[in-house]
Amino acid sequence: MKWKKLSRDFLDGDRNNRLVYLTPPHAPSLVTTLAPNGAVNVGAFEQTMLCSNNPPMMLLAIAPKSDTLHNLRETGECVIGFPYPDKLQEAYDAGVRLPRGESELDIIKGFTVAPSDVVQPPRLEQCWFSAEGKLVWDKKSGDHVTCCVEIVSVTIDEKYWNDDRVVRRKGLPATYYATSGEFFSIGDWTHVEMSDNVKNREHAD
Ligand SMILES: Cc1cc2nc3c(=O)[nH]c(=O)nc-3n(C[C@H](O)[C@H](O)[C@H](O)COP(=O)(O)O)c2cc1C
Repeated sequence: MKWKKLSRDFLDGDRNNRLVYLTPPHAPSLVTTLAPNGAVNVGAFEQTMLCSNNPPMMLLAIAPKSDTLHNLRETGECVIGFPYPDKLQEAYDAGVRLPRGESELDIIKGFTVAPSDVVQPPRLEQCWFSAEGKLVWDKKSGDHVTCCVEIVSVTIDEKYWNDDRVVRRKGLPATYYATSGEFFSIGDWTHVEMSDNVKNREHAD
């Protein structure tokens, strides 16, 4: 095996050498928030992850200049959605940076909204999963701001519900984003069992 070592200087140098282009892609979310003038803002955020199940919480890493960050800090609310795999054009277009208070809904064809149950920002009907959230904390994290959002309500396309959690999770239409408009969807499954030498071990406290 030959290993390539990348120094901090290398990672900090050319934009093409950034860590993001060396780590596996994430499922990008579409986040809706409300601007101070009431405009519905939509942003695309691949740096979206679940960080707590109970209570349910998700993290977003948002660039400081993003309208989503300002709206989230000011209103404390957002909806985090995962787009259907055939809505990638809309997801990519949501990366556009508009002046604050101008709504992406006005310029991106194909976005439609439905009212949320608990929070003020609406959910996008182009998302098969929508999690209504309230900001718990945000913290500067290098060139982004990490936002911890507590999920207060979820709306999911019923066709993806299954009482069996394995069947359910395997059937979710997850889509991942590399860069420069390159997306892929999962569906190629490999099943593994825990190895004999670990499967009888208790979880340590
Ligand atoms: C698929 C995709 C994923 C993105 N992921 C992120 C991300 O994780 N964090 C971020 O700050 N910007 C990300 N961007 C860029 C933002 O979407 C872009 O800055 C956008 O203008 C933010 O919208 P806003 O200014 O209305 O909040 C991504 C763009 C695309 C197209």
